[in-house]
Amino acid sequence: MAVTLHLQTFNSAHTNRLILFFIVTYALSIYTHQHWLKNEALLEMEAIIKTILVTGGDGQLGLSLKNISSQYSQYQFTFTNRNDLDLSRPNDITAYFQQHQFDLIINCAAYTAVDKAEEEQELAYSINYLAVKKLAEIALLHKSLLIHISTDYVYDGTQYQPYVESQATNPQNIYGTSKLKGENAIQSIAPNAIIIRTSWLYSEFGNNFVKTMLKLGKERDQLGVIFDQIGSPTYAEDLAHGTLKLFAKIHDRNMAVPCKSNEVPVYHYSNEGVCSWYDFAKAIFELTNVDCRVEPIETKDYPTPAKRPNYSVLNKTKIKQDFDLSIPYWKDSLHLCINRLKKNNLSR
Ligand SMILES: NC(=O)c1ccc[n+]([C@@H]2O[C@H](COP(=O)([O-])OP(=O)(O)OC[C@H]3O[C@@H](n4cnc5c(N)ncnc54)[C@H](OP(=O)(O)O)[C@@H]3O)[C@@H](O)[C@H]2O)c1
Repeated sequence: MAVTLHLQTFNSAHTNRLILFFIVTYALSIYTHQHWLKNEALLEMEAIIKTILVTGGDGQLGLSLKNISSQYSQYQFTFTNRNDLDLSRPNDITAYFQQHQFDLIINCAAYTAVDKAEEEQELAYSINYLAVKKLAEIALLHKSLLIHISTDYVYDGTQYQPYVESQATNPQNIYGTSKLKGENAIQSIAPNAIIIRTSWLYSEFGNNFVKTMLKLGKERDQLGVIFDQIGSPTYAEDLAHGTLKLFAKIHDRNMAVPCKSNEVPVYHYSNEGVCSWYDFAKAIFELTNVDCRVEPIETKDYPTPAKRPNYSVLNKTKIKQDFDLSIPYWKDSLHLCINRLKKNNLSR
């Protein structure tokens, strides 16, 4: 009897537990399914609404972003050039953003003629400072993320250790000063933003050191190239991927822009490794089999209107750590760019 009772007790307790188990499992499966559907729907919606504006769409970085944009089909890109959106005209900027709103603005437009900026100061400031200030105000108003591209030329280049982002800036020319004023305007307006300082940008597009060397190498037997300015080249396509991966980390993974005490975070991005312009030129000719002798010359032997930093190597630890980025070595990326230029007969 006692045994039967015990069994009955056991059986009913066991059955109850089983029923409870099935109810919980069923409820969980419904919840998980609905939750999954909700997440899927949310992800899909988020994927649809990610809109990106790239200013300076016809520049090196702008065209590199355009070139890779099909690999980021979750985003809807708009590229503007000077005709669509003239950043030297504040009223045009206001009018444009009254009509358009974006999740992300990547500001690749800039006045980049370093030597000419010494003469065209007002124009340089209007694009590199005043327009950036306006974009920061718009980003704040529209709750857009602003990724602004800045330069190694904000540093004076007097040290011989890679610069970290927190180090003092001290630009040596108008271009660098105008870019720093643009950075400072973003800092004072403090929208959701990131500033990326890069250096020695080159690509298949537009004008850059690689294309200039290839042109001169064809015309001359010998070239003098500066060996006492040290930096790191940056293949624009690497920076373009880096920028979009950074955005993906922030938005797709719902990660906050990592910032301290309301400061807009600054990051460095260039390719890995270090060289002088002389080493850079040598590598370009080696990879293209151009028969042109390169002579190392000193900065003082090639005077330019704008003074340049002697050393502007950027320490990239912060961007690599915060966004888990791996950055290619400069010679590997140069090789890739040269191969692409070769395919296009070195004349794109
Ligand atoms: N190039 C470098 O070595 C280097 C080094 C460090 C940092 N950076 C920074 O990296 C970013 C991208 O540089 P990049 O080499 O791609 O420059 P880029 O090839 O000179 O392109 C800049 C773009 O800005 C556009 N722009 C100039 N004035 C404008 C205006 N008033 N309104 C609208 N657009 C205007 C230019 O249009 P147009 O084609 O019509 O002139 C050009 O397409 C810039 O912020 C630059 O300061 C560059």
